[in-house]
Amino acid sequence: MAEILDTRADETAALTRACEALDRGVPVAIPTETVYGLAADATNPQAIARIYEMKGRPRFNPLICHMADLAMAERHAIFDPLSRTIAEAFWPGPLTLVLPIRPESAIHPLARAGLDTVGIRVPTGIASDLLSAFGRPLAAPSANTSGRISPTTARHVAEDFGAKLELVLDGGPATVGLESTIVKVEGETIRLLRPGGLDAAEIERITGRPVIRKEAGAAIEAPGMLASHYAPDAPVRLGASDVRPGEVLIRFGGKALPGEAEAALVLDLSPAGDLAEAATNLFGYMKQADATGASSIAFSQIPMTGLGEAINDRLQRAAAPRG
Ligand code: TXA
Ligand code: MG
Repeated sequence: MAEILDTRADETAALTRACEALDRGVPVAIPTETVYGLAADATNPQAIARIYEMKGRPRFNPLICHMADLAMAERHAIFDPLSRTIAEAFWPGPLTLVLPIRPESAIHPLARAGLDTVGIRVPTGIASDLLSAFGRPLAAPSANTSGRISPTTARHVAEDFGAKLELVLDGGPATVGLESTIVKVEGETIRLLRPGGLDAAEIERITGRPVIRKEAGAAIEAPGMLASHYAPDAPVRLGASDVRPGEVLIRFGGKALPGEAEAALVLDLSPAGDLAEAATNLFGYMKQADATGASSIAFSQIPMTGLGEAINDRLQRAAAPRG
């Protein structure tokens, strides 16, 4: 198993260890406010290749490159005024911008899966401190085997990768709990490539422009957005109005469902009906549900407002036919 280093005990020592591993081209799992990431030097092709290998990730699926701040991001990507407005409003935070790569950027094409754009995010907390200490962008997908649930704790990461991973920095449970919202500005249009931990309505409020969702049936936007993703082992049933015997129920808003007495386990994403709290709990509860070995996992209806859009997106993928 990977070594789990608690950054809250001695952050400086933890960052030094992480930088030493990253310099050797070894991926290190790190906490971010969204989910844990598997980070590697974005300028080192061998290090990036190891990420793809460890995750079993298709190489046509580009990685998000994390930056210490907007100034560092501007050295690698070309910002139009609208993208800059969005970056200034929401970085550091759970937002990724897809931007044209600068020809002189040292980010390796393998990290971008050969695209002439790059997904950039500026995270908060330990990840931010690590980026400042390391001084180069870190390519970091979510720290899970491809197709599995994104990890929100250091222990989830260590359990998923086993001996393949050397080091996890532990920064406590992820506070947002859902991956970043990904947007791409095209001319005057803001396109939502992935709903996530930043409510798209916030972007509309700051820019005064609509955030355009993909039309039903349109081609996949972010190459990694495959229909079946975020999958627990057990089959997932959505919009449940009752629980079947032996099922796990994951409900919302403190609303009891018929059949709960015979459920294997009942969890409530947010008894108070708070969607931000539900987002934080979602992936951990899916793992907890899976660990019971239950025949299936039933979810009650979750509102589509605010972060509910991203929560329902992940649930749809968890329930999609596997393959
Ligand atoms: O919150 C997050 O975004 C987390 C943390 C670790 O930062 N990272 C994450 O990475 O969720 P990952 O690899 O699991 O998802 C990245 C998504 C993929 O769907 C990928 O296709 C998309 O971002 N992406 C990356 N670069 C892109 C680009 N140039 N154009 C379009 N989509 C891109
Ligand atoms: Mg992922």
